Amino acid sequence: MADNDQHEGGTPAEHNRTHADIDTSKPSVSRVYDFMLGGKDNFAVDRQVAEAALRIAPDAPAAARSNRAFLRRVVRHLAGEAGVRQFLDIGSGLPTQGNVHEVAQQIAPDARVVYVDNDPIVLAHGRALLAKNGGTTVVEADIRAPEAIIDHPAVRSLIDFEQPVGLLLFGILHHLHDDEEPEAIAARLRAALPSGSYVALSHFHNPGPDMPEVSEQATAAEKLFNEHLGTGRWRTRDEILAYFGDLQLLEPGLVPLAEWRPDPGEPVERGITYHTFVGGVAHKP
Ligand SMILES: C[S@@+](CC[C@H](N)C(=O)[O-])C[C@H]1O[C@@H](n2cnc3c(N)ncnc32)[C@H](O)[C@@H]1O
Repeated sequence: MADNDQHEGGTPAEHNRTHADIDTSKPSVSRVYDFMLGGKDNFAVDRQVAEAALRIAPDAPAAARSNRAFLRRVVRHLAGEAGVRQFLDIGSGLPTQGNVHEVAQQIAPDARVVYVDNDPIVLAHGRALLAKNGGTTVVEADIRAPEAIIDHPAVRSLIDFEQPVGLLLFGILHHLHDDEEPEAIAARLRAALPSGSYVALSHFHNPGPDMPEVSEQATAAEKLFNEHLGTGRWRTRDEILAYFGDLQLLEPGLVPLAEWRPDPGEPVERGITYHTFVGGVAHKP
């Protein structure tokens, strides 16, 4: 827990391992995002990057909040109307308000959730949060090795790949470089899902010359992210649509996050960043 060291749960040995694994000399994606969401699990190096990002995109915190609100609406829909009982959340990030299991289990108490992230701080905090929840677990793994996630014993212990799965890829595929072949990785994950499953994702978006001011901000943010975090791609609409393959996109399709089935009266902040973060949900028939 960064500056205000407050680990709960787990054994002392786990705590030592956790502290040893967390590199506080370099910024991390999950901790910069935590700062944008108003969290406390970040260090000075993370805040420096976040503050530089805020100079380019002052409304970035609104975009981060909008992503969490989108995630909550999607999970509510999947656990409710769609009847999904098992979720695989890859690139889950640090626990925050409205975690997937909290939203899903409010609707379906028997819903099972596996959180996957490659940042050790997520594992440490996830364990503490989930210690008493039998229907959830957190796994440290890398999406660039998708079969290792699908075959992971902890994943298999909660997720039955014969039953519909909600695969959640919120804010992660844009952290893969083009040469890491995110489209092929998404295809390998889709292939592991049985029919009746859903893929939901959110992704940084560069609208190109149709929206020059937005595109300029996306390009500047991409440069900053890559200099400091080593990742970050603001992709075109077609590149993002490709992650759904031949699955059927649910209405309203791939849209700015706040436009995906908004709750009545939900506040929407339409700054430039609004157009640089899009999401959608698709069904495997
Ligand atoms: C921006 S956060 C998104 C958190 C959450 N999914 C959300 O949308 O609110 C991206 C997360 O993806 C994780 N991540 C980045 N690259 C990854 C990789 N190759 N494998 C697994 N997780 C990764 C980061 O550690 C971070 O926690």
